[in-house]
Amino acid sequence: MGPIVRESSHLGATVTPLAGAGQRLAVGGPPLAGDVPDVGRARDAKPEARLERTLLYVARTPDPLLCAYLKSRGWEIATARTVHEASRLVKPEAAYAGIVDLTGFAPREFAGLETILRLQQMGWIALTDDSRLTDAEVRRLIRHYCFDYVHVPVAHATLDYLVGHAFGMVSLCDLDTPAAASQDEDEMVGTCEAMQQLFRTIRKVANTDATVFISGESGTGKELTALAIHERSARRKATFVPINCGAIPHHLLQSELFGYERGAFTGANQRKIGRVESANGGTLFLDEIGDLPLESQASLLRFLQEGKIERLGGHEQIPVDVRIISATHVDLEAAMRDGRFRADLFHRLCVLRVDEPPLRARGKDIEILAHHVLHKFKQDSARRIRGFTPDAIEAMYNYNWPGNVRELINRVRRAIVMAESKLISAEDLDLAQFTAQQTVTLAQAREAAERRAIESALLRHRHRLTEAAADLGISRVTLYRLMGAHGLRDEKTFFGGEAENQAELPPDGQD
Ligand SMILES: Nc1ncnc2c1ncn2[C@@H]1O[C@H](COP(=O)(O)OP(=O)(O)OP(=O)(O)O)[C@@H](O)[C@H]1O
Ligand SMILES: [Mg+2]
Repeated sequence: MGPIVRESSHLGATVTPLAGAGQRLAVGGPPLAGDVPDVGRARDAKPEARLERTLLYVARTPDPLLCAYLKSRGWEIATARTVHEASRLVKPEAAYAGIVDLTGFAPREFAGLETILRLQQMGWIALTDDSRLTDAEVRRLIRHYCFDYVHVPVAHATLDYLVGHAFGMVSLCDLDTPAAASQDEDEMVGTCEAMQQLFRTIRKVANTDATVFISGESGTGKELTALAIHERSARRKATFVPINCGAIPHHLLQSELFGYERGAFTGANQRKIGRVESANGGTLFLDEIGDLPLESQASLLRFLQEGKIERLGGHEQIPVDVRIISATHVDLEAAMRDGRFRADLFHRLCVLRVDEPPLRARGKDIEILAHHVLHKFKQDSARRIRGFTPDAIEAMYNYNWPGNVRELINRVRRAIVMAESKLISAEDLDLAQFTAQQTVTLAQAREAAERRAIESALLRHRHRLTEAAADLGISRVTLYRLMGAHGLRDEKTFFGGEAENQAELPPDGQD
């Protein structure tokens, strides 16, 4: 992402400047289909490399220099001096950026203007001046229908930037066909370094058949990652079988996993194929593996060693070829220490390890994900919701997101239904207390920034303290102390050689 230009957008930013800026890993797509910039990312690409960008410029007296500039930036421009002319020029089903110069129109023309401002396919930027902004009707039109507004005179480059993003946003609307929506289902969105690293890991891990262990807080995308690995692996044509070990009563788990023969117990009227066997040729995803009772842990270990299962009540050893991916959000190391989880099983399950970054450590991705969710679910609202208020964005960055991506999806979906204007506010997200209006002392701001920096350095280096400390320009001992102060020491599980031993950190010299 480049810097966000806001120089002449005076009354606060109402745009969603991230149009299509997300990088995605489309789970169902062809291998390595992810990580391409979106079509809507209009700003930095050379004009000839983009989709045709169409722009409608509505002004009583259009500025020929502005037209010439925008043409040189690759815009296909149509100019209209009246509402009537404008509505004739707009082709149905095409996406347009729009510039509407409100300074030249009389109040009695606003009703007419509203008919074109309302068009779904248009992404409007308004030009205005101070006197116009005192008119309540002008303010309403801008609020309801425009991505942003600028005071005239405006730097042409700024306007090019703004219409680029408006165009990106409406281009996304164009993709809202049922087919595209279903393709979106399993898309992983992420642009930050931690997510890019995750995508790289997914690709690498998909090329092998070794077991994978995914660790991450609740709602960070563990299942989505497991599916992404499967979809990119040689097993993608076979099934992906998820099983939530925590959701199945313990006494049923054995038969659920391994199946049973007819007559194996009272009520076993016919043979049942277990989940392990049904995943033959494909991938078995063992979710909440920490909840697996010891009895099932023993059976699973046996299966991992021998590659064969035995149905309950059966005598036959059946070879099954599955790739196992497991996940947990609990501290398995503590479970191993307490004797609730077998270390030998863990080492079999965790040949490769993937860590899901928590949402609060994903920087800009928070905003990008929020827009992604808004686009996916905006039809749930009777209104045409266009984005988020600056307060909402601010609150999203300040909030800690304990429920991670799942919580963000839920909050945005609820806000879409509850919002009473075209823009979702912090209040709609139920995050009003996290807006900038809350007074924040410098000390609090510093502390929050420090915590964020430490957390992302730890993520970048997979909790290897020496490297994280070097990045941060502090000693390992200082880092360790700061992690304690910020409550970051016990948050993760550390094992498998990726992380250094957190419990007994040998001092390494000066602080
Ligand atoms: N990077 C992402 N981009 C888009 N959607 C995501 C992303 N990560 C997670 N999601 C969505 O967030 C929700 C939670 O993801 P998922 O179920 O994979 O999380 P989880 O870590 O398995 O959660 P839990 O620990 O609660 O089981 C899902 O709806 C998923 O599609
Ligand atoms: Mg899950």
